Amino acid sequence: MDCDPGHDDAISILLAGRSPHIDLQAITVVAGNQTLEKTAKNALNICSAVGITDVPIAAGMANPMVREQVIADDIHGETGLDGPRFDKPSIQLDNRHGVDLIIEVLMKSDGDITLVPTGPLTNIAMAIRKEPRIVPKIERIVLMGGAYQLGNVTPAAEFNIYADPEAAHVVFSCGRPIVMMGLDLTRQALATPEVIKKMKPIGNKASKLFVELMEFFTKTQREVFGWSSPPVHDPTTIAWLIDPSVIQTKPMYVEVDIRSDKSYGRTLCDYFNISGKQANTEVALKLDFDKFWNIVYETLKLYS
Ligand code: BDR
Ligand code: CA
Repeated sequence: MDCDPGHDDAISILLAGRSPHIDLQAITVVAGNQTLEKTAKNALNICSAVGITDVPIAAGMANPMVREQVIADDIHGETGLDGPRFDKPSIQLDNRHGVDLIIEVLMKSDGDITLVPTGPLTNIAMAIRKEPRIVPKIERIVLMGGAYQLGNVTPAAEFNIYADPEAAHVVFSCGRPIVMMGLDLTRQALATPEVIKKMKPIGNKASKLFVELMEFFTKTQREVFGWSSPPVHDPTTIAWLIDPSVIQTKPMYVEVDIRSDKSYGRTLCDYFNISGKQANTEVALKLDFDKFWNIVYETLKLYS
């Protein structure tokens, strides 16, 4: 996983850290929702709080490749993970740079590693540029980012792509299979009051963390976007890996706009194959809402 926690990143860590369907090899952290220092601290806090102590966590890139940095403190708060209080973490960051850890895990593999980026794509793009031999080792990339319709940070662009469009361009053009969980899909993954109420009685550390995170997230998503319930974007990636029937996708040719002014960072998705170009991405269209939240429920239950 490569993430920028982040309230919804935290939920994807909770899923990947306990699901029997996932063999989590590493967590790398990137600047995005907050500065790298804060997102890295958040990753340690989340994992330590729920007992994910056997997975290396490494900090990667602190800045985008070309553009100036943007963060999402309006949504995720001053810490990047406002809401819950954490004890001092019992784990530390891995000594390796996040980009090097990605390269190491892939080079050692038999080509059966799935990358799951849920933040700006800086670490993944840097790894591809630093060690191109990793590219054929990537089985696929299941990412949260982009939209074939409307953006959330500009009318055209989604935050993770907008925060580093050049990196996203490197990733979308790398030639490996991509599954894109864009806003069109993730706006269906709403943590409604009923959903939050369902998780509460699980009564373990993971469900407590879920509830605290979602209570804060509900507040800011309402203030900023007017959502009555927050869209929980990032864990759709892990849910799809656990059970692909939870999400309907459509193959499309996707390109990132890195040249224009107003559409900078837009994922241009050729829905009708107007260009005739070969599809490089499975773009997510439709979420089975009940199935999705049931996956989250069943996985949170596995924590002690
Ligand atoms: C994406 O941006 C971040 O704020 C969230 O964590 C998610 O990855 C949604 O646009
Ligand atoms: Ca994220």
